[in-house]
Amino acid sequence: MTFEVIVLAAGKGTRMQSRVPKVMQDLAGQSLFSHVMTVAAGLQASHIHVVHGHDEGVLQRAVQQLSGVNWVCQEQQLGTAHAVLQALPTVNPESDVLVLYGDVPLIKLSTLASLVAAVAGRNLVVLTAQVPDPSGYGRVVRGRDGSVERIVEERDADEDEKAICEVNTGFIAAPATVLSRLLGRIGNENDQGEYYLTDAVSLAVESGTPVLTHTTTDVDEVSGVNTPQQLARLERGYQARQAEELMHAGLCLRDPTRFDLRGTMEFGTDCMIDVNVLLVGHVVLGNDVTIGANCTVLDSELGDGVTVNPNSVIEGAKVGSDCSIGPFARLRSGTQLAARARVGNFVELKETRMGEGSKANHLAYVGDAEVGQNVNIGAGVITCNYDGANKHKTLIGDDAFVGSDSQLVAPVEIGPGATIGAGSTLTGNAPAGKLTLSRSKQVTRDNWQRPQKKDRVK
Ligand code: UD1
Ligand code: CA
Repeated sequence: MTFEVIVLAAGKGTRMQSRVPKVMQDLAGQSLFSHVMTVAAGLQASHIHVVHGHDEGVLQRAVQQLSGVNWVCQEQQLGTAHAVLQALPTVNPESDVLVLYGDVPLIKLSTLASLVAAVAGRNLVVLTAQVPDPSGYGRVVRGRDGSVERIVEERDADEDEKAICEVNTGFIAAPATVLSRLLGRIGNENDQGEYYLTDAVSLAVESGTPVLTHTTTDVDEVSGVNTPQQLARLERGYQARQAEELMHAGLCLRDPTRFDLRGTMEFGTDCMIDVNVLLVGHVVLGNDVTIGANCTVLDSELGDGVTVNPNSVIEGAKVGSDCSIGPFARLRSGTQLAARARVGNFVELKETRMGEGSKANHLAYVGDAEVGQNVNIGAGVITCNYDGANKHKTLIGDDAFVGSDSQLVAPVEIGPGATIGAGSTLTGNAPAGKLTLSRSKQVTRDNWQRPQKKDRVK
């Protein structure tokens, strides 16, 4: 038996009060939609159909890596049953169908696989959840014998029904023929005037189609995102689960509630991460890496023994072993540091390679530069790499010493072992092994007097 997946993603998400389509809201660095599509792809269905509204392009860009998705437009958002009906004509009538909601991002592959398996060419299978707080969800109404009778949406439920803690997760699976037969009969006489997919359950019961339920108690797995509060809660749940897994694998987090990973990471042994650290994209840490409080690291690689001191921001950088970064340093994209380099407070590097043992310890901007080994870049040194139109390179040879407060007007080259006197503005190359400086002569005026305050005119 083949099976196909229909992902519902056309809803406007009015409750988010945002211009961004709801399923494109971000959870842990990925849209809700791409979380769902990752699971959908993992199921190895014969087809994936996505029902979208008028934002097809945005959704397609989010899952560019997935090919063969059938995009179906739901012109008007008339409800979840109406949404499924838009896709059904393109589904093979011989297939079983699994419906996923684009706003329920953390559903597990194994849970869905068991739903699909339970259809077996004839059953309607609903995933329900026992939750402590059912508010916002459809409630599962069961008869005396415990069998499901129907699902009632919260806004249509009476007080007794609202007290039910078994909720509809929205995940439903059934043969395509069963869905076609039931969905065509669903009306919209309810509080929202919408065609509810959930009504398929009572219609199935009435018409003798076997209805099975699978129940989970994992609230995060089936949590939908309708409001900013729900999005924030789910983010914390996701981060907590992720932090737990990382610590289980040996990562030391000073406080797992103050750590966020929006992407993926690899790490060696004895890595320690202090509070309020944010890792984004793909981050690789070697052994013995320490990251201080309040740092952000994005798509970067930190070698063995690297120390990142508090309040540093590292983006698109490759940092060699035993380097020391920060506090308050900023490594921008294209930064490559060889072993034992040091980048101290208020130093910004961009598209710059620094050789072994070189240092820029305080207050400098080094951009588009090649810096050799054991170079000292003094406080206040600036590469003037941009002429308003183009970027130019600065080359600094091994063992050079660039005195404080120097401006290196690129393109410019400082030879190996050269010394640049403090306060120089370099507009030409500085030869190897020599002192080069450009500064006005110091003068002292013997007969100079400080101005005195004049008497006030009354
Ligand atoms: C839905 C269920 C509810 C369940 C809850 C679980 C219905 C009627 N209600 O309610 O029982 O407890 O999910 O999270 O199904 N969508 C479309 N087209 C539409 C309407 C919605 O594609 O015309 C999509 C939305 O983008 C969303 C999903 O369907 O991804 C669910 O819609 P939403 O409006 O969020 O339903 P809920 O009120 O959360
Ligand atoms: Ca929802």
